[in-house]
Amino acid sequence: MREKILVANWKMNYDFYETTSFIRNLLKILFDNKINHNKKIIIAPSFPFLHISNQILQGTTLSIASQNIHQKDKGAYTGEVSANMLKSIGIKKVLLGHSERRIYFFEDDNILLQKIKIALKYNIKILFCVGETISERNKNVHYSVIENQLKNTVFHFSLHEIANFSIAYEPIWAIGTGITASPKDAQNMHQFIRSLFSEKYGKEISNKISILYGGSINDINAKDILYQEDVDGGLIGNSSLDMNKFLNIIQS
Ligand code: 13P
Repeated sequence: MREKILVANWKMNYDFYETTSFIRNLLKILFDNKINHNKKIIIAPSFPFLHISNQILQGTTLSIASQNIHQKDKGAYTGEVSANMLKSIGIKKVLLGHSERRIYFFEDDNILLQKIKIALKYNIKILFCVGETISERNKNVHYSVIENQLKNTVFHFSLHEIANFSIAYEPIWAIGTGITASPKDAQNMHQFIRSLFSEKYGKEISNKISILYGGSINDINAKDILYQEDVDGGLIGNSSLDMNKFLNIIQS
């Protein structure tokens, strides 16, 4: 059985105080109240707070992911953060391919390929996001869009390397809109993604790889979506910034 995973993508929200107090409160509530959570919890705060957040979570079952890395090893890239820098503060996971990075920061498949390579070089595990626009879905080309996103990036890597990946299916039209994919549509796409992994890497890998859903998950819809057969958890934006909603999702 694949473990359920919840990733809180805080995007560009929360300052130092908000980040650290949220994480400390979450730990306190989860462990003092012995809240039963059968899910792996990962939090992705902003760059300046990765180190302190990681320190707070030392020795717990929760962990930290970065929201980004730069594709180059080091050098004259003012304002950027390298994989090596993240590794040096103990960060072991990164989100790549998020539609906000693709759209606002022009990260195309070629840049994403380089980002994957540098993450793998520094032993950083990758949560790779794919997703279609609403017009692609309306034109009924969403399956081929997702297939191409994977073929152009993740599928360049070997059977050995693929163990470092998880996938997040995040339909762009569902992100921050309050509209989610129906549990059935999410399941169909997740099953399709898993079948692509099976074709490319075989059944064993495809049974193991975690495929998360993201896009307007909240405490009301979480249960229906997260317990579809091929949905292995959630990548959560807005609702992960609200302690009560996030706790409800954790317990769903
Ligand atoms: P929302 O949960 O706010 O729709 O964001 C989803 C997302 O983009 C997570 O990466």
